[in-house]
Amino acid sequence: MNAQQIQWVQSSFQTLAADPDGVARAFYAQLFRIAPELRPMFKPEMGEQRARLMQVLAAAVRGLDDLDRLLPTLHALGRRHAGYGVEPRHYAVVGRALVDTLRVGLGAAFTADVEAAWCAAYAALAEAMISGSAATAAAV
Ligand code: HEM
Repeated sequence: MNAQQIQWVQSSFQTLAADPDGVARAFYAQLFRIAPELRPMFKPEMGEQRARLMQVLAAAVRGLDDLDRLLPTLHALGRRHAGYGVEPRHYAVVGRALVDTLRVGLGAAFTADVEAAWCAAYAALAEAMISGSAATAAAV
């Protein structure tokens, strides 16, 4: 990602920061609309899950210009996800639900450039998480 893309992701995320729970609600609603088979992986009550997702996303967005610093955290998060039954193929559908949510939440501000920047940011996070879970698989 270049500096401009990082700035687009950070400033667009800031726009949504006023209502993190609303963003997370919209995200999970969209995820379970496009992939209802994933719903049973999550606990019935999602309040805490929404808060944790948004905390990690906020930290990742803040840390985009030095993602290496976040790698240990993302690897550990990826390992925990493997334990939840998450497989690498699931990351694409979650990425799609995130992009759909941002498109609705940001409206006209979600330009093609902003979308491409978010796709690059999500790909970097997913790659770090997946490589963390692969490290576990190799160690078993
Ligand atoms: C960039 C991508 C993702 C981020 C930032 C993220 C973030 C989180 C966070 C912060 C938690 C809280 C628990 C913990 O810290 O271990 C969590 C739990 C969870 N995530 Fe993710 N996640 C991502 C991708 C995915 C994907 C692709 C799936 C696949 C369906 C998924 C499914 C789950 C499940 C099943 C839980 C546990 C829920 C529960 O215990 O009820 N996540 N995620």
